[in-house]
Amino acid sequence: MKRLVLAGSVGLALACASVSGLATGGPVGEANGAVVGQETTSTLLDGVFTSAQARRGRRVYSENCASCHGAELKGGEMAPGIAGSDFMVFWTELPVGAMFERIKVSMPEDGPGRLTDEEYTDVVAYILDANSYPAGDTELPADKAELDKIMIVAAE
Ligand code: HEC
Repeated sequence: MKRLVLAGSVGLALACASVSGLATGGPVGEANGAVVGQETTSTLLDGVFTSAQARRGRRVYSENCASCHGAELKGGEMAPGIAGSDFMVFWTELPVGAMFERIKVSMPEDGPGRLTDEEYTDVVAYILDANSYPAGDTELPADKAELDKIMIVAAE
């Protein structure tokens, strides 16, 4: 992924969109480009979830994700890790809404879409917490359009 990072945000957005199967028809590049260029209003460094939300997400994770991704999010025989710099670099410069949607349409792998939007949002908060992003005073909204306004950037 290193080479793609150097290719710049639009290239990365396009590459990631196709790699992670986000293409739901229509001009993905343009859609992502618009998000990247104009609509984002905050980043993951602004404290976009709360500790309480991450704790709720931890419960959702234990019940629905840990069996494959491991209690420490490090992955295992069944699934890749979803913590650490390799994982987050993959998402850098994409909106949180893209991660939310990707998880919602494909996870848990044994029953995609079976959680509520709130549960998916809480689990995203937990993944961000586990990846050392700062908690803040407002919860991540369970709304893809709102999540699309928050940009994923590298942790400090
Ligand atoms: C039955 C096993 C299983 C369960 C349960 C499961 N996953 Fe996965 N997950 C996988 C496998 C296998 C992959 C890799 C294939 C793929 O990307 O679809 C994956 C991929 C992912 C990815 C993308 C990783 C990457 O590097 O691109 C994320 C994010 C993810 N899972 C999150 C979750 C979350 C959150 C849950 C719980 C709501 C969950 N998964 C539950 C098996 C599972």
